[in-house]
Amino acid sequence: MDSTKDSLYANPLQEIGDFTFDDQVVDVFPDMIRRSVPGYQTIINAIGLLAGRYAQDHSHCYDLGCSLGAASLSMRQSIQAEHCKIIAVDNSLAMIEQFRENQFAHSGHVHVDAICADVRDIEITQASVVVVNFTLQFIPLADRQSFLSKVYQGMRPGGILIISEKIQFKDAQQQTLQTDMHHAFKKAQGYSDLEISQKRTALENVLIPESFAQHKQRLLDVGFSSAEQWFQYFNFVSILALK
Ligand SMILES: C[S@@+](CC[C@H](N)C(=O)[O-])C[C@H]1O[C@@H](n2cnc3c(N)ncnc32)[C@H](O)[C@@H]1O
Repeated sequence: MDSTKDSLYANPLQEIGDFTFDDQVVDVFPDMIRRSVPGYQTIINAIGLLAGRYAQDHSHCYDLGCSLGAASLSMRQSIQAEHCKIIAVDNSLAMIEQFRENQFAHSGHVHVDAICADVRDIEITQASVVVVNFTLQFIPLADRQSFLSKVYQGMRPGGILIISEKIQFKDAQQQTLQTDMHHAFKKAQGYSDLEISQKRTALENVLIPESFAQHKQRLLDVGFSSAEQWFQYFNFVSILALK
């Protein structure tokens, strides 16, 4: 997916409002996420490989917080299972409208439904693969356990949950080091110090990271038989949880 270059935070802003997934962000989103999240494309590719292996016949694959559908597209290209449907959900109408337009460019044997809704409100049923790629971090802390419990309840035995997050570290030195390295990554991708600092302020009250230990414990608490990290690039991780 090509997109306009992200320069939303390139000029000094009088007031930096909370970050939202609005029309402006939609226009630059593929460029923004690729240059901001280390390893993003590797994770998207792996989601396809995992869906190819875990998607079951007559089941649903969910992409929760789908944005423009990069994970859905990756799953769609790899799923061999019969009568398997992808259900992609996002509560930003701007994202879902663009997602639907993008889909016309691709065809395949797997049907994709794009739904505009809050992932906390939807029913999860007959799920063999569930993807929550950099979305849990935007859900209020108090709702994370009940949301993941609902996901677990809606999954079939043998199903997999792929959850990717920005994380924080208990150890202050690690926290400083990994945050600095993330900023170095962004600078290497062409973002200026001003862009990095203004975006950081915009996300401060919106993106609430937790530690890997917190994620793992919660996944085990809601019932998953195991939860392990398969990928890490500085303070960005991806976790596989098995039912
Ligand atoms: C960082 S983006 C996710 C990127 C996407 N999963 C991908 O792999 O390209 C976070 C997305 O989650 C959506 N989102 C945040 N909170 C949500 C909620 N409660 N329900 C549904 N979508 C939500 C946002 O609108 C945004 O599109």
